[in-house]
Amino acid sequence: MKEPLVRFSVAIGGELLDRFDRYREEHRYPNRSEAVRGLMRAALIEEVVGDDDSESMGVVTLIYDHHVGRVAERLTELQHLHLNRVVTTTHVHLDAHRCLEVILLRGTTKIIRELADGLIGTKGVETGRLVLAAVMPIETGHPHSHPHPHPHED
Ligand code: NI
Repeated sequence: MKEPLVRFSVAIGGELLDRFDRYREEHRYPNRSEAVRGLMRAALIEEVVGDDDSESMGVVTLIYDHHVGRVAERLTELQHLHLNRVVTTTHVHLDAHRCLEVILLRGTTKIIRELADGLIGTKGVETGRLVLAAVMPIETGHPHSHPHPHPHED
């Protein structure tokens, strides 16, 4: 059931408003309300994924030269050690030497961060980064509202 929208006014002026309006245009928000909602959700998602126990999806992107050391093998080994955390892996051959690997992880934020650090820190990885997404919609979800986040994993 959709809850009714509530209108509230915000007092804001000067440089901050100008910058906000530019931001809104650059990010193609149709109006200020949509932009404010987008920023609110982003801030709340930040808070949720900042909680170690929250249920998250992690997208890890890695770039490496598969000729260096045993990097491809090391990365595969690490993923096999965490079968229930790795949802899927995509491998793209960028050129004759370099590979892009995108690894999708699921679990608590703490576990995802640890595993991502292990992957990104693997010897031979040129560069890597982790992007976290909250699993539960932030409008209803709360970091501690779901006491058994892994019912299917044990
Ligand atoms: Ni490759």
